[in-house]
Amino acid sequence: MCGIVGAVAQRNVEGILLEGLKRLEYRGYDSAGMAVLSGDGRLQRSRAVGKVAALEACLAAEPMTGHCGIAHTRWATHGRPTEDNAHPHLSGERLAVVHNGIIENHEVLREELVAAGYRFTSQTDTEVVAHLIDRDYRHSQDLLSAVQSSLARLEGAYALAVVHADEPDVVIGARQGSPLVVGVGIDEAFIGSDPLALLQVTDRFIYLQEGDLVRLADGGRIDVYDTSGRTVEREVDTFEHGDGAASKGEYRHFMLKEIHEQPAVIAAALEGRLGDSAVLVESFGPEARALFERVQQIHIVACGTSYHAGLVARYWLERYAGVPVQVEVASEYRYRQVVVPEGTLFVTLSQSGETADTLAALRFAREKGYLASLAICNVPGSSLVRESDLTLMTQAGPEIGVASTKAFTTQLAALMLLTLALGRSHGLDEAIQSELVNALRGLPRLVERVLALDEGIEALSTGFAEKHHALFLGRGAHFPIALEGALKLKEISYIHAEAYPAGELKHGPLALVDSEMPVIAVAPNDELLDKLKSNLQEVRARGGELYVFADEQVSLAEEPGIRVLHLPHVHEALAPLLYTLPLQLLSYHVAVLKGTDVDQPRNLAKSVTVE
Ligand code: G6P
Repeated sequence: MCGIVGAVAQRNVEGILLEGLKRLEYRGYDSAGMAVLSGDGRLQRSRAVGKVAALEACLAAEPMTGHCGIAHTRWATHGRPTEDNAHPHLSGERLAVVHNGIIENHEVLREELVAAGYRFTSQTDTEVVAHLIDRDYRHSQDLLSAVQSSLARLEGAYALAVVHADEPDVVIGARQGSPLVVGVGIDEAFIGSDPLALLQVTDRFIYLQEGDLVRLADGGRIDVYDTSGRTVEREVDTFEHGDGAASKGEYRHFMLKEIHEQPAVIAAALEGRLGDSAVLVESFGPEARALFERVQQIHIVACGTSYHAGLVARYWLERYAGVPVQVEVASEYRYRQVVVPEGTLFVTLSQSGETADTLAALRFAREKGYLASLAICNVPGSSLVRESDLTLMTQAGPEIGVASTKAFTTQLAALMLLTLALGRSHGLDEAIQSELVNALRGLPRLVERVLALDEGIEALSTGFAEKHHALFLGRGAHFPIALEGALKLKEISYIHAEAYPAGELKHGPLALVDSEMPVIAVAPNDELLDKLKSNLQEVRARGGELYVFADEQVSLAEEPGIRVLHLPHVHEALAPLLYTLPLQLLSYHVAVLKGTDVDQPRNLAKSVTVE
């Protein structure tokens, strides 16, 4: 999704802004641009379609100098990815705006501005914001109040940054529905869509709240205003994940690096949350214990990969905590007439904590009489975290690859903690609690052992490079793992992949099976294994090529048409966490073989901050 960087600094900001854009590349984008105010009051602008490298080349040919500027990576919503549609958008020669989000009433505003004599040069919704601010500026001659009054006219979601050549040391930022953080420097101030964009210049951040407006000025001055226009104090947080997350280190891609970080981050997700033989319920907050006792049902809402984590959790929560669970994608949930039985806990899952639909679902849920809301999230200070009653951070550290890997497995670890915490207050047998806590402790080591099988998984990937379709099968809690496997494959290798509960095979997808359709099955050693084996026979009988990931204790031999990769034995409840790993690696290797852009697959964004 679009990325924003802005700076008011003691030095030339071109390099800071460019580096910021590179660090935001992971969010997904199709064009980039920058505007810098020169010392002599000129507004310079450069834009390019494609990668930030293309903008960098433009800047190398025509460098910009100045101490104040804004920059942007655009992910097209209104208007194709062309240079004209790339941000910053200008009004006249002196005002520039960058924007992330969608202005829903842009058509009405555009008509009004055209009638007032403004000429539009792009198809974007953003350009109305530039002209609107310009019109108000002509009256007030003050950028802050011009932005304030213009924002009052906007409907929709935005994070934006504005500069004006008349105020050459000022950047105004605002957020409503899309993320924006302020970076606190030494006599310098910055804004960015997320802290990663600014880690090269600071590790201290203010997480702006909904409706906040910020004025950055010379000497590092930062003034934050709330929706009523009053100055407010916002806490300054130190970013704790270090800057390592922003580089690939020894790995070829962020995705591979993040896959290999999983033993460490799963350990981090569990750290301090496991007692001797039970989960520490207080990990969810001091009030969690009393609250969990009152939980009679759970509604889980999320998008994408996070939704798949929720689907796995349903099996766990119903089995071990005995609580009925409903799981739904946020974009559906928020527009439905939801019936909320008494004692229902509302749970959101999100890596970023900024996904527009998930956030809207939380706000919608607030009116529906839920017992409480719990966010399981990876980004401290994100909107979801701030707006939920209870939170559990997944501790995965920044995830850069668009295809989610470590964020997913840490969500699963967190959801198993939730299962056991709720199990405690819902009569789960103490011996089972203790057994699962022990199994969780051993999990990072098992994850390492599975990742060590990488060579074998890479060898399997050659069978996919020429294929156009693939089918993933699983049963029980491994059906969502099959869904996640299919999602990974399509996201990064662009192979059409579908997932089915193996029992559904003969109700349709079997018609597709032939030698051109690889079928991937996850076969842990659980009570559904024998049933799964019969499903696999059905595939073989139709000439389908099978790839089976099976427990080392399962007797399944390789034979022509069946490739088997054995995984270490794991407690049945934790198997989904382990079986997702070979599917991540398989997708990764297929994508590398196909030569796709693994970390930034086409058309996708890391953080979907528009509806
Ligand atoms: C985008 C990302 C996915 C992610 C989904 C939900 O589609 O590309 O990787 O699963 O958003 O994001 P969230 O941050 O809410 O988990």
